[in-house]
Amino acid sequence: MRKTPSSQPLISSPDNELVRRLRRLASRREPGFAFLEGPRVVAEAAAAGVDLELLAVREGDDFAAEAKHRVTLTRGLFRDVTQTVTPQGVVAIARVTPSTAGEAIAAARRARWPLVVLDRVQDPANVGAICRSAAAAGAAALVVLEGTADPFGAKSVRASAGNVFRLVVSEAGWDDLALLDGYGAAATGGTPLAKAAIENAGMIVLGSEAHGLSRSDLRTVTIPVNDGVESLNVAAAAAVILFEIRRRKAA
Ligand SMILES: C[S@@+](CC[C@H](N)C(=O)[O-])C[C@H]1O[C@@H](n2cnc3c(N)ncnc32)[C@H](O)[C@@H]1O
Repeated sequence: MRKTPSSQPLISSPDNELVRRLRRLASRREPGFAFLEGPRVVAEAAAAGVDLELLAVREGDDFAAEAKHRVTLTRGLFRDVTQTVTPQGVVAIARVTPSTAGEAIAAARRARWPLVVLDRVQDPANVGAICRSAAAAGAAALVVLEGTADPFGAKSVRASAGNVFRLVVSEAGWDDLALLDGYGAAATGGTPLAKAAIENAGMIVLGSEAHGLSRSDLRTVTIPVNDGVESLNVAAAAAVILFEIRRRKAA
């Protein structure tokens, strides 16, 4: 291990323990940790108050953020641990504090915002995009039901542009949500969005890409779409509903 000009250790060996850990986390989550990729994601997570366990910068690049450990990786090694090409080479391992369903429900209540519930949304790009829209609209908390992609997985975190860290996020089952009254978003047959009191709902549930909602006893809300179009992408539907809630709260 050499030292870089900024006296950060320069790692060139693929067998280095930190490199192995980064590579492992990039493809598989470890409880309590998340892999962050790219300057925007790392900066957003740091701005949200997340503790960075390790910050790894590509040789020749620099990045200002507080981290417990900082290393520089040779360009070849950096390419090896990252999944995407970013203009500024930086990846990090963040500490993730899991919340309980009760904490997520309490956070949503405090913010006077419906709890956002993901019911088997399987594509991490959709989960990340929904987290990003939820944080942007002003939602405080999000719950993922079994069968939903991990919101702290590397792909979801990237798709959320780091905004998942602005939400209280919990795994839960339907039983945990039994006291919440709310709306399920349904591609067809629900109360038209303009007539549904979604801003006062305890929760807004978004369904799976392939099968929709897993419960049939929820009140449902539908965003009217043009004839011939079957449904919206779940992240697009979430954005429309969440920003309608924001609009009504500001009115
Ligand atoms: C691609 S759609 C699922 C379509 C699926 N064929 C079904 O049976 O519902 C995925 C999710 O996006 C949301 N969604 C899609 N279009 C919507 C619309 N027009 N209004 C409200 N929610 C919608 C719903 O939550 C839905 O479960």
